[in-house]
Amino acid sequence: MGEERPSEVAMTEAEFRMLAELLRSHCGLHFGTESRYLLERRLGRRLVELGLRSFTSYHYALRSDTTAEGELAWAIDNLTTNETYFLRERQQLTALVQEIIPSLQARRGGRESGAISIWCAGCSSGEEPYSIVMLAAEAGIEPGRDLRVYASDISKQALHKARRGIYREASFRQTEPWLRHKYFVEKDSQFRINDEIKKHVTFAHLNLMDEKRISLLGVLDVILCRNVIIYFDLETKRHVVKTFHEKLRPGGYLLLGHSESLINLSTDFELEHLHHDMVYRKASESDPWHETAERTLLAVDRRGPR
Ligand SMILES: C[S@@+](CC[C@H](N)C(=O)[O-])C[C@H]1O[C@@H](n2cnc3c(N)ncnc32)[C@H](O)[C@@H]1O
Repeated sequence: MGEERPSEVAMTEAEFRMLAELLRSHCGLHFGTESRYLLERRLGRRLVELGLRSFTSYHYALRSDTTAEGELAWAIDNLTTNETYFLRERQQLTALVQEIIPSLQARRGGRESGAISIWCAGCSSGEEPYSIVMLAAEAGIEPGRDLRVYASDISKQALHKARRGIYREASFRQTEPWLRHKYFVEKDSQFRINDEIKKHVTFAHLNLMDEKRISLLGVLDVILCRNVIIYFDLETKRHVVKTFHEKLRPGGYLLLGHSESLINLSTDFELEHLHHDMVYRKASESDPWHETAERTLLAVDRRGPR
């Protein structure tokens, strides 16, 4: 984001509400009244560039945008927070490769039973999925054979960077030099990810509110959605978590960011205490509490409607 100058055009309260509602209904992003000046500044520059005279006209331009590369995509690129870095919240990634993946493999009957599928929902510029593949390789898990990683984001700009796989120093604030040296090639103070890691991540442009596109994803063993739903309104958070529950295999895991939880959002998951972290897990058919829940449901069923 460039330097933010005050907007030449003022945003009225009514315009703010219209724009905030459009963004909320399109992608779940929540802009409270305190964000009015942020929207005014960020979108104001654009409005002038487009030769528009009011935010009402800009709202119209966004609403009538039907193309993937259009104005809505520009607004999303410029309003989403894409902050990320390699090995962010590392304890959780360690839990993933050292505890979750081996336990899923064991439950399924060993490595021969197929790859564990992981979805990074809201992967930004790719540091998160690439971190998973690197840590997995370090832990003796063979990407491709034991593990498949899918990664998606709504921001086209962030995805472009993810697919390119070239990063600056700031992305390595939590990465040891030896690890960077092993998996990246340095050129002109930038670092290109090694093809052996890169080829194991499949990227897709996907809005978490787009049920049609999400239905194209198969069932998953693990979903990471870290530091994403924090920006959503409550209704969208619940909706997205419900979708994750549907997409996960029984016994699958949901990994949220450390400042996020399912309190008030869902009771469909149980909290599992692993050695390295606490994570959410969808009940599997063999879980005792799942059986209890099933028995209760059957009992209610037998009693019939009230
Ligand atoms: C702060 S980044 C988190 C990146 C990474 N998961 C991490 O924890 O480092 C949040 C990402 O969520 C994406 N995002 C926001 N709303 C989204 C939506 N409706 N669908 C898909 N991605 C979304 C943003 O574009 C942004 O890249």
